[in-house]
Parts: sequence; C-alpha cells; structure tokens
Amino acid sequence: MWSPEQYERFKDERSLPFWDLVALVESQPRMRIVDLGCGTGELTRALHEKLGAVETLGIDNSASMLAEAPAATGLRFEAAAIESFEPDRPFDLVFSNAALHWVADHDALFRRLRNMIADGGQLAVQMPANEHHPSHRIAAEVAQEMGLQQRRSPVLPPERYAEMLHRLGFVRQHVRLQIYGHLLPSSEDVVEWVKGTLLTSYEHQHPRFIDRYREKLLAEIGRQKPYFYTYNRLLLWGSLAV
Ligand SMILES: C[S@@+](CC[C@H](N)C(=O)[O-])C[C@H]1O[C@@H](n2cnc3c(N)ncnc32)[C@H](O)[C@@H]1O
Repeated sequence: MWSPEQYERFKDERSLPFWDLVALVESQPRMRIVDLGCGTGELTRALHEKLGAVETLGIDNSASMLAEAPAATGLRFEAAAIESFEPDRPFDLVFSNAALHWVADHDALFRRLRNMIADGGQLAVQMPANEHHPSHRIAAEVAQEMGLQQRRSPVLPPERYAEMLHRLGFVRQHVRLQIYGHLLPSSEDVVEWVKGTLLTSYEHQHPRFIDRYREKLLAEIGRQKPYFYTYNRLLLWGSLAV
C-alpha cells in the first residue's frame, strides 16, 4: 500500500524530524547501525554517511519502498518485518524514523529493541503522535462511519517512554514531544499528506473513503490558503552503559 511517490511529496517537511533525531545521536567510530522501517532508504544513506558508519542495514516490509533503495559502501537493505527481525549480532545504534507507530505493543517492542543494542550502544526513535489533530481523528471517524476496521496508534504518552528507557537500562536519555508546523499551500493538501501515510490503512478498504474524508476534514478545518498544519512528534534517545 506504500507509494514512494506519494510519501515523497512532502519530502522536505518529512526530513526535518529525521535530522532532529540524527542530532541526538552521539557519533562513535566504526558504528554498526540498523534503520527499522527505512522506507526508500534515502534517509538511511544520509544517516550512514553523516555518522561515517562502517555498516548500516535498512529493513522494511514494503517491496515498493525498498525498490528505490540507494547503494553505498557498507550500506545494505533487507525486506523484513520489524516484529520478527532477528539480528545475528547487536548494533551500536538502533534507529527508526517515522515507522514504529506501525508496530503494536510498545512494551514488548522496546524490550526487543533493547536486546538488539550492544553495550554502550544507542537507541534513537521518532514517531508521530498526532492522533488528536482533525487530520487523524477524522480518519478514525470515517472508518467507524463506514464500518471499517479502525487503526489505533500504539504510541504511548511521552513519560511512558522515559520510564521504559529507564527500566530497560538506558543510563542516559532524552525524550521530547516536538510540534512541527508545516505551512501547506492549502488545507486540501492535508489530504495529500495523510494519503502518503495514515490513509494507507484505509483507502483500499472502501472506494469512497478519501472523498468522504476530504469532505469531513474540510468542513472542520475550513478551506484555507495557506494552511498551517501542526504535527506532534515524539523524539526518543537513550544510551546503554558501556
Ligand atoms: C512513514 S515511512 C518512513 C520511512 C523512512 N524511515 C523515512 O523516514 O523516510 C514508514 C515505513 O515503515 C515501513 N513499515 C511499516 N510497518 C512496518 C513493519 N511492521 N515492518 C517493517 N517496515 C514497516 C513502511 O513500509 C514504510 O516504508
């Protein structure tokens, strides 16, 4: 259901939180990195190059996204689901930008991620937390109206991740909720934005989903040109003891 073309329509806006996440990582020599839910791999390559990593593995379960994956020395990609991915040895950095909100049960997930990290290694995760915005709430409302299965975000409140990182043995941590303001050409562009991500859960389930979603969304947020779209995101970073 993932379309690289649709997702990349807002490439510049979507790369901002990626760079904020990269800025949290402490660069070490000869790092081995995994990027979970790497998408087209373009940002995986940027991460690999920025940190001068010796080895970076990008994993994703969408063949259409991985079809775009770039090549570079030490960079490789694998088709795999985050839920069942089993590395053969630990990484110095487990990284994930805008993907873990697609994986259920974050208590279990973060326990698994911690076990993929070598001593002294780091975890860096960015996830959308925008469920209260009309862009997300209305998608759930339309799904309910049409009798479709509703997507429930597994993302927890920020403080739960702080507690979780502490419990899992991260001796240093940084957890923050950041609000990104995106100035879109018009409020209709919100539909284009979520078509590249959230609506991938719904649009195939009903032929009129997008039309109904657009109608309800514009009735609530109005037809504005430009439109200031606020998007909450959680940024998490932790480091294990050496
Ligand atoms: C919003 S895109 C982010 C891509 C990339 N990390 C970036 O920042 O541009 C989310 C990606 O997560 C992948 N994904 C979603 N659920 C997944 C899962 N359970 N296992 C592996 N990949 C998954 C999707 O295929 C998609 O490429």
